[in-house]
Amino acid sequence: MYQREGKNSATMKTTIVFLSMMVAIMAVDLPNGFKICKLSDPDIIKCLSEAITIALSVLINGDSALKILPIEPLTIDYMRINSSGPVSLIQEYRNMKIHGMAKNVQVFAKNFDVNTFALFLEAFNPQLNITCDYEFNGRILLLPLQGKGKGKMTLYNTTMTIDVEYERYERHGESYLKLKKLNFYIKDTDIKVYFENLFGKDSNLGEEMNRLLNENAKIIFKEIKPAYEELIKQVIVELADKIYSNFPIKKLLPPV
Ligand SMILES: *[C@@H]1O[C@H](CO)[C@@H](O)[C@H](O)[C@H]1NC(C)=O
Ligand SMILES: *[C@@H]1O[C@H](CO)[C@@H](O)[C@H](O)[C@H]1NC(C)=O
Ligand SMILES: *[C@@H]1O[C@H](CO)[C@@H](O)[C@H](O)[C@H]1NC(C)=O
Repeated sequence: MYQREGKNSATMKTTIVFLSMMVAIMAVDLPNGFKICKLSDPDIIKCLSEAITIALSVLINGDSALKILPIEPLTIDYMRINSSGPVSLIQEYRNMKIHGMAKNVQVFAKNFDVNTFALFLEAFNPQLNITCDYEFNGRILLLPLQGKGKGKMTLYNTTMTIDVEYERYERHGESYLKLKKLNFYIKDTDIKVYFENLFGKDSNLGEEMNRLLNENAKIIFKEIKPAYEELIKQVIVELADKIYSNFPIKKLLPPV
């Protein structure tokens, strides 16, 4: 009996040694170019704004060591919206690609709690280009609207907000962060749209309808916005998870 226990604990020890070797081997470095902010920095808000802006530009093409997928472009395979009211329209979008999510984005941290690390930030994006295959069927302001083809949407001067809270946990004697809550919203944007082939071959009608759609672009975008917010939120959560689970707090936010 004693013998067996002895054997077990020896096996256990070997396993633990082996596991910690694995962890040591698997330990990855912070991606090249990452900026680190010290908690003692009197202007940590400014440091975090720069650090997050830089992190996004560094991670644009993903990071194989951290298993982070490229951020550009973001893709939505299929989206269907059935709206009623002034825009009573079934909108179907396929192969939707969002370009510019991490490029040229500027992050402004607004609030940071040095004890809980809760963070509220705004991000500004001058131009997001979205391409898609669209199919519309319905009415807009009582005018019949039917069409199928290539579509383009451009989001200018977009302001987004992110609000994050964490919980801490211990692993191998180190403190790590895990997301507890993350809210992402598109607060404001100036949207322009263009849909080819809105009335088949009748390009005059198509141009007129594109003008009308642009005048109502905010109403149309309001319907699509929740799906975008959800997609972008998922991307941010995935990025944050990969970073926080790979690096202990003291490496990401050293005290001094
Ligand atoms: C779209 O929504 C309207 C009202 O909610 C409903 O009457 C209609 O059947 C829906 N159409 C499709 C194709 O889902
Ligand atoms: C968006 O499209 C414009 C015009 O085609 C182009 O100049 C710009 O570089 C594009 N931006 C991104 C982020 O793809
Ligand atoms: C975006 O903001 C800039 C600076 O305020 C302004 O000059 C530009 O006209 C805006 N673009 C659009 C498309 O609203």
